[in-house]
Amino acid sequence: MTNKDMFEPRWSRRAAEVGTLPFTGGARLPLSLAYGLPDPELFPRAGFAAASARILSDPAASAAALQYGSIAGHPPLIEMLVERLAQTEGLHVSPANLLITHGSSGAIGLAARLLVDDGDVVLVEAPSFVGALSILRRSGAQLYTVPVVASGLDVAGTESVLQTLHRQGVQPKALYTMPTFHNPTGLTLSLDSRVALLEVARRYNLVIIEDDAYRDLYYDSAEGSLPDSLYALDEDGRVIRTGTFSKTLAPGLRLGWALARPEVIERMMLLKEEGGTVNIAQHLVAEFGRDGALDAQVQTLVEAYRPKRDAMLNALESYLPDEAAWTRPAGGFFVWVTLPPSIDPPELARCALEQGVDYMPGAICFPEPLQPGNPTYLRLAFSLLSPEEIVEAVKRLGKAMRQTLGSAK
Ligand SMILES: Cc1ncc(COP(=O)(O)O)c(C=O)c1O
Repeated sequence: MTNKDMFEPRWSRRAAEVGTLPFTGGARLPLSLAYGLPDPELFPRAGFAAASARILSDPAASAAALQYGSIAGHPPLIEMLVERLAQTEGLHVSPANLLITHGSSGAIGLAARLLVDDGDVVLVEAPSFVGALSILRRSGAQLYTVPVVASGLDVAGTESVLQTLHRQGVQPKALYTMPTFHNPTGLTLSLDSRVALLEVARRYNLVIIEDDAYRDLYYDSAEGSLPDSLYALDEDGRVIRTGTFSKTLAPGLRLGWALARPEVIERMMLLKEEGGTVNIAQHLVAEFGRDGALDAQVQTLVEAYRPKRDAMLNALESYLPDEAAWTRPAGGFFVWVTLPPSIDPPELARCALEQGVDYMPGAICFPEPLQPGNPTYLRLAFSLLSPEEIVEAVKRLGKAMRQTLGSAK
């Protein structure tokens, strides 16, 4: 009997329908703009080395760090988050509002398992974060889209989707949205639109999952402060906000969190499968973050990623054909490029590969297949490469676009 004969007939419906991994998570080419990987040069190696030495050389500290941990999370780490939210956003929460999770992917997964039964409707932006789309799908959700326009999520469009669903007797379980430095578009929703979205959510009794992975990576703070999160603006407790240490410290920690009202946090905690999440990583981050090292790290990142963002925007201006348009993100990792429908996406990917550069094809960020006649989209990540490499990559991408446009004429 082969393994295939043994397992295939026994797969659960979920396992049989799970599809393929959306991407492998590694940069394939030296000049890859495809993946939003943090720059490894910016991992706080020295701080982690010192913090882990302090933990591991101390018998009591190491015994606690290497033991099973609390399901809610390591209390000093939760306390650190509580203090940081107060300091950086003026947002006052209690430890009971927080749950440490296996990355923010874990928090999104728990939110999905908390709310979604097979076939339940969840609203997502079009385009959205590919990872979250597959998490939501795997939870059994049926995804309906709300439009994203030049200013971010289209609140009026969202309301009309809700109206239509309401008329059909469908109550969506939640809206999953990234109002700040959206992945893949880089857009940030204005304060007015956030308030309007919450009003719509109140009218239609909609729960919101707010993915806030990139909030700390704000490059234009000299031009004004960021709008408050939906969680902070909400007065009804209808928002579950997710956060992560993946972008500010290191994704290999696999640590994130959920922020919500205590009864929601408690229920999510009961759904956690791993128990205490990567306890030693939690102890490491709490030890590292004593005395404000996390704020210093965020400052270092902002100073390092801003020139990369600027290098990309300037290079796009210099090297992309006139037919291209793109977003100008104030933070996060991504720029979203729009090209005319006459560009054939596979042909562009082939020409780009010939030039030794790749990107994430925008079509995979949409929950439904894009219809012919739609623009061609590309997501470009500026997080991983150096400013010089970014310029070279964009130059080559511009060449590939011109080639493809030339062959389309
Ligand atoms: C918008 C967004 N949310 C969540 C994640 C998941 O991050 P993690 O699970 O590492 O916290 C990512 C990672 O790319 C992301 O871009």
